[in-house]
Amino acid sequence: MTNVLLVTSSPRGGASYSAQVAQEFAKEIEGAKITVRDLSAHPLPHIAADFVQAAYTPDADRSPAQRQALALSDKLIAELQAADVVVVAAGMINFGVPSTLKAWIDHVARAGVTFRYGPSGPEGLLTGKKTFLLLATGGVYSSGAYAPYDHLTPYLNGVLGFLGLTDVETVLIEGVGAGPEATEKALVGARSKAASLATAFAA
Ligand SMILES: Cc1cc2nc3c(=O)[nH]c(=O)nc-3n(C[C@H](O)[C@H](O)[C@H](O)COP(=O)(O)O)c2cc1C
Repeated sequence: MTNVLLVTSSPRGGASYSAQVAQEFAKEIEGAKITVRDLSAHPLPHIAADFVQAAYTPDADRSPAQRQALALSDKLIAELQAADVVVVAAGMINFGVPSTLKAWIDHVARAGVTFRYGPSGPEGLLTGKKTFLLLATGGVYSSGAYAPYDHLTPYLNGVLGFLGLTDVETVLIEGVGAGPEATEKALVGARSKAASLATAFAA
């Protein structure tokens, strides 16, 4: 059995290409037991002062209220820790991640829990997992004049890598803003790459 955490985040709900391809992909993983974290249907609150104060209070010194302030974060981190495979689906929103996904990242990036600062610098603690990113964009950013505007792919690789999720494969669904034909082509290419990745993972 492979524990798969499927995180979907597009504000386009059921119309989301990234969510659709990611769902198909997760099911293709051999022996997958899928836990879905649908951030679009069930958005998380922004982290706030109570969260930050609790997170930076040593565990042994936390009050019951501070433990409560971290309860959701603890749950989301437990989902990640239990996962052998993390699948993150996101559409580009205003050149970056959907705010729902940013809120999730803010809840799961916890000093001393998912990363720590050691003698040789920061160390990610979510190790030994495979990560797949399924990313949809209206424009094309993998090459060309708009590449510097891509704050989605580099950001996700950076922050997830910081947490220890360094073994990452990415499937792009690019250029869907260019009409139905371009969208169909992007989806066919993405589904084909996703199927190959699922096969390679099983091998
Ligand atoms: C509110 C909003 C903002 C968007 N901003 C961008 C953008 O900055 N750059 C871009 O290339 N596409 C942008 N798009 C297009 C989406 O990236 C595209 O629709 C993609 O398919 C969304 O992912 P999804 O299909 O998983 O929902 C935006 C779409 C929406 C709805």
